[in-house]
Amino acid sequence: MSSCAVDTLSRKDTAIADKVSNLLAQMTLEEKIGQMTQIDFAVIGGDPNADFPMDTAKLNDAVINHHVGSILNTPFDKGRSVETWRKIIQTVQDTAAKTRLKIPVIYGIDAIHGATFTKNATLFPQAINMAATFNPELSGKEGEITAREIKVSGLAWNFHPVMDIGRQPLWARLWETYGEDVHLASVMGSAYIKGHQGTDFSAPDKAATCLKHFVGYSFPLNGKDRTPAWISERMLREYFLPTFEAGVKAGSPTVMVNSGEVDGIPGHANHHYLTTILREEMGFKGVTVSDWEDIQRLYTRDKLAASPKEAVKIAVMAGIDMSMVPNDFSFSELLLELVNSNEVPLARIDEAVARILTVKYQTGLFNPNTTFLPINQFATAAAQQINQQAAHESIVLAKNANSVLPLKKSASILVTGPTANLLSILNGGWTMTWNGDNESLYPHDKATVLKALQQKSTGKITYVEGSSFDTEKDINKVIAEAKNHDYVLLCLGEKTYIETLGNIESLALEPAQMKLANAVLATGKPVILLMLGGRPRIITPIADQAAGVLLGFLPSMEGGVAIANILYGDYNPNGKLPISYPRNTNGITPYDYKPSEVFKPNTYSPLYPFAHGLSYTTFATSGLTLEKHAITRSETLNVTVQVKNTGAVKGKEVVLLYLNDLAASVTRPNKQLKAFKKVELNPNQTETITFTLTPADLSFIGVDLKRIIEAGDFNVMIGNESATLTVTQ
Ligand code: BGC
Repeated sequence: MSSCAVDTLSRKDTAIADKVSNLLAQMTLEEKIGQMTQIDFAVIGGDPNADFPMDTAKLNDAVINHHVGSILNTPFDKGRSVETWRKIIQTVQDTAAKTRLKIPVIYGIDAIHGATFTKNATLFPQAINMAATFNPELSGKEGEITAREIKVSGLAWNFHPVMDIGRQPLWARLWETYGEDVHLASVMGSAYIKGHQGTDFSAPDKAATCLKHFVGYSFPLNGKDRTPAWISERMLREYFLPTFEAGVKAGSPTVMVNSGEVDGIPGHANHHYLTTILREEMGFKGVTVSDWEDIQRLYTRDKLAASPKEAVKIAVMAGIDMSMVPNDFSFSELLLELVNSNEVPLARIDEAVARILTVKYQTGLFNPNTTFLPINQFATAAAQQINQQAAHESIVLAKNANSVLPLKKSASILVTGPTANLLSILNGGWTMTWNGDNESLYPHDKATVLKALQQKSTGKITYVEGSSFDTEKDINKVIAEAKNHDYVLLCLGEKTYIETLGNIESLALEPAQMKLANAVLATGKPVILLMLGGRPRIITPIADQAAGVLLGFLPSMEGGVAIANILYGDYNPNGKLPISYPRNTNGITPYDYKPSEVFKPNTYSPLYPFAHGLSYTTFATSGLTLEKHAITRSETLNVTVQVKNTGAVKGKEVVLLYLNDLAASVTRPNKQLKAFKKVELNPNQTETITFTLTPADLSFIGVDLKRIIEAGDFNVMIGNESATLTVTQ
């Protein structure tokens, strides 16, 4: 950034700070506490079946009488048109304009893969798929397009990206993460934030993001959502904090709190995390918002507080600025009592409200001219094209025995299994509705896998369901039909789910689906297995016998077409796994395992390792060169390598640089991803790639829990090559 840009920025910050203190000085205590209150749409909702599902009397009560500063969520869990959203937001802001100080309401929404609750929005692959693209540019574009599409509706705050890392595959929210690796998740999340916010998110086409869910939420010991994680401070600092640090650095102005607990302390009561680490260490200056009902849960669930009032006190004093209450005004009422009795100091309220007002200014909410972006910015053809690219790049070809794929368009294919003909299964949660499972709300012009195959095939495509997700159906018919076809496309996976609704006991695939798979494999026809769903369900015995395996996860609205294009070779696959795909239900060792995990016995034996993904061409990397073989702890280092397309068709490849610290005072992972780059190459084309390693890449959390760099040797690894780097004092 030029010094001139920095000056402009700091001038802007100062101007906002002046406005905030001016406004704060005029506010009553009730008005301040109202700003700290976020309610669900249901509190102001009217007839759910009406075109305009809002009750203006309830809205007036919330915004005018209770001074509510923020509203979230969708009207009655149903996709709404842009026009309805605009009317809702206009009505909300008109109501705020009738209040004494005319402070606009900030409306938050989970636009986690595009404008999720708006009909016909551009709905991108879910985060786990975006991570599989290993393409930060696409993540940035997703952010850019999502911000535009929510701003068409006047929504200025998106509860995304999820910066929790996905190292517990049982967890029902794995697919909301960018996978198991700290570097990949940091890069993809940061790119998303920059695309979504630009350099100034008060611009009409930009909106604020929110880092979720600070911190440790994604690692429940038993795999169930919102249950305890036991994360030591070293592990927290090494694996769980860096993605949030990256998000703060990328400029996200808000953070949502972990709904569960870590090490016996609920996220919403953790002063050490929310204040000492987030504010004092990481320098976060924005707003901390609670998750759904979680302040109340300190009393109702966790028994950490002896009363609802004590729960409010604990959470606010731990550092929470805004309460997603969400169904009543109890938070405001209790906080008012706490301030009046001097149990919560006014200074803490002023601090929280100043942060909230700052974000409202930064988001451009005080300028009504920027509330709505023109409707022609919604679901544009250009956005659609980017989405198609994202879907294609997000699908992983995991097995292709004897080059069974691509198939000829004239091939006759029997399509079977529960995931073949549903749009919801391609999208997952937060699509049209919270759970995403209301198939009738999905756009009928989008193709399921089956439809896309039917559109492209010149041969025979027959569909027999065979099994629902958990109940076998017409397996005999499947067996009979298989005989009349060249191939079987076996479409298995998980039904759509969200949060705790997605809790499972085991990663094993449902017996009904296994039965269908075994029946199909027994016919002797070549089987292509397609897996769809948010988690890696165990497919080892099927994958061993299948000729081809495609891992689609949740590629969203364009996923059906993308899968068909890959099956027929109209697109050369290049997605790479952002997680290790377990071989067995308990085989959940991530790729950056510790030496003891492979000492005896080797516990890293996934079905498919992290970053695995095949192509219809081949690539080779060679010529790994370090600029120097020894550097000091403060130096950077350039590393170059050549990558060549050694096959017969054009394709994309991801080149990955891993580092291993050969000896250290805390055990180090066998390797850690430090840099990656995706390139597209024609047959025989070679490209030289330069990566720059920085001191941060050499660092780790030392014995005293501080980030350090130790002198010694490191292995730099790309492809099959490695080189030794010596770090001196
Ligand atoms: C989820 C959050 C989400 C919030 C608001 C909660 O249940 O945990 O991720 O942002 O609801 O919808």
